[in-house]
Amino acid sequence: MSSNEDSTNENRSRRRFITGLTSAAWAVGAGFSVTPFVLSMNPSARAKNAGAPVEFDFSKLQLGQMVKVEWRGQPVVVLRRTPEMMSGLSDVTNLLADPDSVGSVQPTYALNAARADTDRNDVLVMLSVCTHLGCSPVEKLAVGPDPEMGEDSKGGFFCPCHGSKFDLAGRVYKNVPANKNMDIPPYQFLNENVILIGDDSARVS
Ligand code: FES
Repeated sequence: MSSNEDSTNENRSRRRFITGLTSAAWAVGAGFSVTPFVLSMNPSARAKNAGAPVEFDFSKLQLGQMVKVEWRGQPVVVLRRTPEMMSGLSDVTNLLADPDSVGSVQPTYALNAARADTDRNDVLVMLSVCTHLGCSPVEKLAVGPDPEMGEDSKGGFFCPCHGSKFDLAGRVYKNVPANKNMDIPPYQFLNENVILIGDDSARVS
């Protein structure tokens, strides 16, 4: 084998290693709330950067657990909400700036209190981008007193940049810097456990 071939093979190995490290860093650093596991990484990183839809298999996500998946270079929350989390959504209606999401961005199938597909409304798929100036809010999934969310928190998301608060459907509270709910991207279920983020073209409703 020539020295050029040696060098090419070495470069390929190094690229594979660096790609592996990048994926792992995203999986750990971008917000497994409870148990880390390997993200579905389809399609390729290059395709994702170009805006291709991203598949995510949430079969290992337990009720009450959340993960952030990268789509178009932005973090997308995938959260399986418990019955307690779901009932908390109606408890906070009067505290919200836009409870019916009339001024917010979501597909029509997510224009409801849960801001989710009515057939699987426990599953929240939402851009984790604050509508004030674009920071990524921190998840506050526990129901109960929380230093940022308040004494009677029903769970939600807190933006550490300027203190905006959102409920567990990404709806913004009154009297905070943000004035819009967080965006819901297009998505569809490919089967019981797999969602496709960024493409809802095969939906029938
Ligand atoms: S960017 Fe979130 S409150 Fe300002």
